[in-house]
Amino acid sequence: WVLMATAQTPTNIAVIKYWGKRDETLILPVNDSISVTLDPSHLCTTTTVAVSPGFEQDRMWLNGKEISLSGGRFQSCLREIRSRACDVEDKEKGIKIEKKDWEKLHVHIASYNNFPTAAGLASSAAGFACLVFSLAKLMNLKENPSQLSAIARQGSGSACRSLFGGFVKWIMGKDENGSDSLAVQLVEEEHWNELVIIIAVVSARQKETSSTSGMRESVETSLLLQHRAKEIVPKRIVKMEEAIKNRDFSSFAQLTCADSNQFHAVCLDTSPPIFYMNDTSHRIISYVEKWNRSEGSPQVAYTFDAGPNAVLIARDRQVAAQLLRRLLFFFPPNSDTDLNSYVLGDKSI
Ligand code: DP6
Repeated sequence: WVLMATAQTPTNIAVIKYWGKRDETLILPVNDSISVTLDPSHLCTTTTVAVSPGFEQDRMWLNGKEISLSGGRFQSCLREIRSRACDVEDKEKGIKIEKKDWEKLHVHIASYNNFPTAAGLASSAAGFACLVFSLAKLMNLKENPSQLSAIARQGSGSACRSLFGGFVKWIMGKDENGSDSLAVQLVEEEHWNELVIIIAVVSARQKETSSTSGMRESVETSLLLQHRAKEIVPKRIVKMEEAIKNRDFSSFAQLTCADSNQFHAVCLDTSPPIFYMNDTSHRIISYVEKWNRSEGSPQVAYTFDAGPNAVLIARDRQVAAQLLRRLLFFFPPNSDTDLNSYVLGDKSI
């Protein structure tokens, strides 16, 4: 017999960034972060997990190609989930798995991304969140989504925020064992439905410095990172929660842009410096800043992760339509800028 479970998880985009770990193994951050989860039909991972007495080892396929599960992060997630597995019974198929049996059974995992993995768009956030959620479903875990987020965190930090929709906060926590470093939903999915997220793929090349090694170098060498984590982010988190609760787009946009810029300033303050944005990214920032100033109040917020692609958040559908037209005009596909105008997030979140 074979027993299966499937889950689908969207990626999330941080508006207050996570950058820096205080514990590399448990993946514990140096500051809280806040993100917005994309609509499930865009940039998501679908994972099917299966268990059968015939499986001789744990195996995983990503977009049809087998990948190794030997990495510490996969192993941590699998171990944490197995240790919490419960009895499972499927009367129709005549299958009964007892809690103690899970240690001996192996799983096969098939995961698909509905976006080009190489574009460096969604990091590992959707992937690990989906892996943990689908395995938890298969093994009948009783943990709530926040408790599951603490497991997904051990796969990739940002993954813990993809266990919820809407706006999500990853609380850094204080415990050394990481038990209180988990995600909570700030407001439900429908709370701020007017927002539209547009992702402009500036370059589909894979990033040169991974988030994991980039943030390690920043922690080791950047004084700005220390200042940011202690003095800046705690205050920003309070203000951002307030802006989200009140649907205050002006404050939201100002905080989002400032935090993205500070994160990239930390990257420049790292030795050797890390450059994630390119000329096109900088031109998009200048363009949005000018537009917002000419309107007298922010219409669009921008944020950039560990790569040159722009995540643009429009205050409503009308602004989003205008933004798209302007992007296509000023940054036409295949011109001498290398901006391809794939528009992946053109639905309200
Ligand atoms: C810039 O979660 O990819 O996207 O925990 O080492 O796997 P690891 O890093 P990862 O880092 C994401 C960094 C970021 C900001 C963010 O998503 O908050």
